[in-house]
Amino acid sequence: MNFRNKYDEYLSFFEGELKQFCAEMKHFPPVLTESMRYSLLSGGKRVRPVLFFGSLSHFGGDYTKEARLAIALECIHTYSLIHDDLPAMDNDDFRRGNPSNHKVFGEANAILAGDALLSEAMCLLLGEAGRSERHLRAAQYLADAAGADGMIAGQSADLLYTGRTGDEKELSFIYAHKTGKLLTAPIVMAAILCGGDEKKAEEFGEALGTLFQLTDDILDEKGESAKMGKTLGKDREEDKLTCVKVYGMEGAELCADRTAAHCHALLRALGGDGFLASIVDLVRTRDN
Ligand code: IPE
Ligand code: IPE
Ligand code: MG
Ligand code: MG
Ligand code: MG
Repeated sequence: MNFRNKYDEYLSFFEGELKQFCAEMKHFPPVLTESMRYSLLSGGKRVRPVLFFGSLSHFGGDYTKEARLAIALECIHTYSLIHDDLPAMDNDDFRRGNPSNHKVFGEANAILAGDALLSEAMCLLLGEAGRSERHLRAAQYLADAAGADGMIAGQSADLLYTGRTGDEKELSFIYAHKTGKLLTAPIVMAAILCGGDEKKAEEFGEALGTLFQLTDDILDEKGESAKMGKTLGKDREEDKLTCVKVYGMEGAELCADRTAAHCHALLRALGGDGFLASIVDLVRTRDN
C-alpha cells in the first residue's frame, strides 16, 4: 500500500473514532460542548494520531485497539492550539482555516474549552492506564509530555523569548518542548506498548519534532495562508524567537535539510520503516 493510502486509512479510522467521541460529549452548558467540538472537528492534519498509528504498526502492534490514546493526544494538541491563539499568547484570529475558538466563543469560553479538553484527555489516559502495565506507562509518558516539563515549558519559554535576543540554545529548548514533546510522545508510546526500543524511538521523535517546528517557522514566513489555515507573518511581527530569526531563511532551510537527513538516519537505527520515512519527507516538504 502506498504512503497516501496508508495515511488515509489511519486518518479515516481516527476521524470516525473522534466523531463518535464528540457525538457522545453532552456537557452542560451546551456552549462548552460546542466550543470543544468546534476546535476538535475543524480540520487539522492529525499528524500526531497518524504518527501514533504508524509507529504502532512499525513496532508490530494493532493500531485499531488504541483509538482512545490517539484521541487523548489530539485533545491535548487541540487545547494547546486554542490557548496558543488567545490574545494573551499569540493573538491569532484563524486556525485550521476557520476563526480561532476565542473569535467564535469569546476568550473565557476558549480558555474553558482548552481546560476541558486537557481534563478529558487525562480521563481518557486514566481509563486506558488500567488495561496493562504498558498502557499505564504510555499514559504517564503522554501526561508528562503535556505538562510543566513538557509542552507547557516550551510555550512558557516561547513567550519569555518573544521580543528578546536568543540563540541556538534557547531556540532548541523551545522546539524540543513546545513542539517536540507532543510529536515524540506518539512514537515512544507506541514503543512502550509494543516492547520496542524506547530510547531510539525517543531520539527519532525528538528530531522529527525539531523538523516539524523548523518547517512551521519557515512556512510562517513563506507559506500560503490559505493552505496553512492560519494568518502568516506573525512570528516576525511579534518578534518570536524562530529559526528564521536565528539563522536567516537560507540557514533555516539548510538546518531543515540536515535535520531531515538526521531523522532518516535515526529511523534506520530504529529498524527502518517506509511509512515513517515518508512522514519525515512530508514534514520537510509540507505546505500546510
Ligand atoms: C501546529 O501544529 C502547532 C505546532 C506545533 C507547530 P499542526 O501543524 O500539527 O496543526 P494542525 O493540527 O494540523 O492544525
Ligand atoms: C505552537 O507553536 C506550539 C503549540 C501550540 C504547543 P506556534 O505558535 O508556532 O504554532 P502556530 O504557528 O500558531 O500553529
Ligand atoms: Mg505560539
Ligand atoms: Mg501560535
Ligand atoms: Mg508557528
